[in-house]
Amino acid sequence: MQYHIATYGCQMNEYDSLLIAKMMESQGCTATDDPAQADFLIFNTCSVREKAEETAIARISKMKCYKEANPNVRIVVVGCMAKNLGESLMKKRRIIDFVIGPDQYNKIPEILFSRPVIPTKGNRKYRVLTDFDSEENYLGQSAKLLSPFSTHVTIQRGCNKHCSYCIVPYVRGPEKYRETADVLREIKEAADKGVSEITLLGQTVNAYKSGNDTFATLLNKVSEISGIQRIRFVSPHPKYYTPDLIEVLLGNAKVATSAHIPLQSGSDAMLKKMRRQHTVDEFLRIVEKLRGANPLYGLSTDIISGFVGETEADFEKTLEMVREIQFDSAFMFIYSPREGTESAKEQEILSAEQKWERQARLVELQNEITLQRNQLMLGRNEEILVERPSSKNPEEWVGKTNNFKKVVFKPVGEIHPGDYLVCNIDDIRGWTLRGTPIAQ
Ligand code: 5AD
Ligand code: SF4
Repeated sequence: MQYHIATYGCQMNEYDSLLIAKMMESQGCTATDDPAQADFLIFNTCSVREKAEETAIARISKMKCYKEANPNVRIVVVGCMAKNLGESLMKKRRIIDFVIGPDQYNKIPEILFSRPVIPTKGNRKYRVLTDFDSEENYLGQSAKLLSPFSTHVTIQRGCNKHCSYCIVPYVRGPEKYRETADVLREIKEAADKGVSEITLLGQTVNAYKSGNDTFATLLNKVSEISGIQRIRFVSPHPKYYTPDLIEVLLGNAKVATSAHIPLQSGSDAMLKKMRRQHTVDEFLRIVEKLRGANPLYGLSTDIISGFVGETEADFEKTLEMVREIQFDSAFMFIYSPREGTESAKEQEILSAEQKWERQARLVELQNEITLQRNQLMLGRNEEILVERPSSKNPEEWVGKTNNFKKVVFKPVGEIHPGDYLVCNIDDIRGWTLRGTPIAQ
């Protein structure tokens, strides 16, 4: 039997898809990229913006032909939209057989293999498993590797922050942390298989606590695992950039010199309304410390344009902050009211066009800044983690610097994904840094 998984949304979903993949394979199932070949079509979905749900539903609808060709094909919807829409998803798209939320993945083998359910209208309830489980941390389990040299490990599930725009606490439940020993076990296993780069995942990853461990002590422990060379993490919350953590971020050579820190807005009034629990000034202090120690510290962020109640003056403060901080890159989103969240109760004043227009101004500014930040890399010798041959030119390869910039280079001699090599950054074409390997 074969399974096909399509993943939408964030890295947390990517990790969960790899966890589910492992469960499917434990039942003797193999992966296929071709939905036409699959016995199980699994959709791991996102709810963070309306567009994310629409995209997944449109894709699931297209699966009807496979179900018609083979009525034994099972269509399984998992992830945040499964939790958010629950049973109503089945009413919306009758081809869906199972709807399984993020805390119920351990039931997948049982439901799909040992007690195959013949989906009928009558057993609909049994086929919708979306309850939260405050104990479920997939203890003792390991996801499949993202790649032979780099993988993700979830250390925190759920979120307690309740930012007023955000659906995550409703679809992923309250925060819970994985035990340190279990995190280290999964990373050790990955390292033993050749992984050298680890990305730790959580909605507010740097709020991590377990026993006596904090995020700072966890980073140090991960860095001691033999074979681990680069540690990344997504997404930290500004509130938890403690002095201890900053010391480790700047002092532990295995912790990569880049971070994705969501800013959301450059206006204190908006941050307050978003219930972000930090101010513009507090964010700037973090940036000062990181960039003060290392001007090339890679910083990316998330920014929402057109939040409910955002005035032109608020938006201009965001532009000002973006100019001041000089992020290396940014994910820029248009505010999307999500049913059930605090801010969705408030009437929007901005039209869709106004929100788009703000977003376009922000994107234009950030694009300029990204180019300027890339220029700073020219002439430097940078250690690259080699990823793959370039899709545009097979004679060239692609890798990432420690501060998370993509570099294209022509290898000298034999090279493999997962190798580390030093390149001199000697050219920039468009968005892309180009380098020449240097003999060491
Ligand atoms: N509308 C637009 N963007 C949102 N995000 C979260 N909720 C919303 C929403 N309702 C963005 C935030 C978050 C990222 C993952 O998605 O910027 O950091
Ligand atoms: Fe990830 Fe949030 Fe989207 Fe869920 S809703 S996939 S947690 S971004």
